[in-house]
Amino acid sequence: MEPVNVAIIYYSATGNVHTLAQAVAEGAEKAGAQVRLRRVAETAPEAAINSNPAWVEHRAATADVEEATHDDLSWADAVLFGTPSRFGNPASQLRAFIDTTGPLWFAGKIAGKVFSAFTASNTAHGGQESTILALSNTFYHWGGIIVPPGYTDPIQFQSGNPYGTSHVATEGAPGEVALQAARHQARRVVDTAAALKAGRNEI
Ligand SMILES: Cc1cc2nc3c(=O)[nH]c(=O)nc-3n(C[C@H](O)[C@H](O)[C@H](O)COP(=O)(O)O)c2cc1C
Repeated sequence: MEPVNVAIIYYSATGNVHTLAQAVAEGAEKAGAQVRLRRVAETAPEAAINSNPAWVEHRAATADVEEATHDDLSWADAVLFGTPSRFGNPASQLRAFIDTTGPLWFAGKIAGKVFSAFTASNTAHGGQESTILALSNTFYHWGGIIVPPGYTDPIQFQSGNPYGTSHVATEGAPGEVALQAARHQARRVVDTAAALKAGRNEI
């Protein structure tokens, strides 16, 4: 059977979500998927970026990561979105990309895909779950199949977020628990998408 296509579409200003996205990519590849890791375009003013050296540094370090396009969404059987929490919501950079997808949605090219999401915030109760749930609003509108990690692996009892892999950025870069949770989330998404793909091919 042909492999599952997985797009990982993320925004990261200072690298935490990027690191999670890489672990998601590893997990998806290990589960047998073809993977596209894509960052969305930066939309912040230069002055805002330049006010934060970590932002400047991360932008330069990831300049070679391809930018997300509509083709990545059309191509994918499953999409994992990653975003920092911004006042309990997804970053406007990711929303800006999502807000260009009207034509794809209207043409029925997004419905039926598998979706999942991951995030980072500066504090443990700083809106990680609300950020993921806010993204889920869009998945509903797209007619997507939402696949959360739940507590489907022992790592979830350590990482503690059944909604999607989450990291507290003030604790340092994502550690092994968050990375393992990210890989597990990806594996679960790939397994679900593979089962759907196989079932649909039989119809
Ligand atoms: C405008 C703005 C709003 C933010 N809002 C929150 C918030 O509500 N709660 C929180 O814990 N962190 C908040 N943060 C911190 C970011 O979530 C944190 O820097 C981010 O997760 C780091 O991810 P990154 O390294 O991938 O950019 C905010 C940051 C910015 C710039």
